[in-house]
Amino acid sequence: MNPVTVLPLGLELEVAEDQPVMAAAHEAGYIWPTECQGEASCGLCVSIIREGTENCEAMLEEERETLERTMGMIDSSRRLACRLKVTGPVTLTKRGVRLSEEV
Ligand code: FES
Repeated sequence: MNPVTVLPLGLELEVAEDQPVMAAAHEAGYIWPTECQGEASCGLCVSIIREGTENCEAMLEEERETLERTMGMIDSSRRLACRLKVTGPVTLTKRGVRLSEEV
């Protein structure tokens, strides 16, 4: 498990190596902005990596295509949380992450 800090909320997640960050947040009872429900097509889950870029797994083509289409550019610090897998500590910013009211 790897620690991922989500700002500005200050959420501390434990993320398994084969698990996308957004899925780990869902498991922990948090809502992450999305329209496509994690299908890597809406771009709304995009997050800014603040620390630990070296601990982010390489971007696959599906993520790259969505970032190009929705943001018009590729920047290694902008990643889709529904596809982002980590191998060590990461700190990122994603506004709109909040505790699910159903929890
Ligand atoms: S949730 Fe839609 S692109 Fe990630």
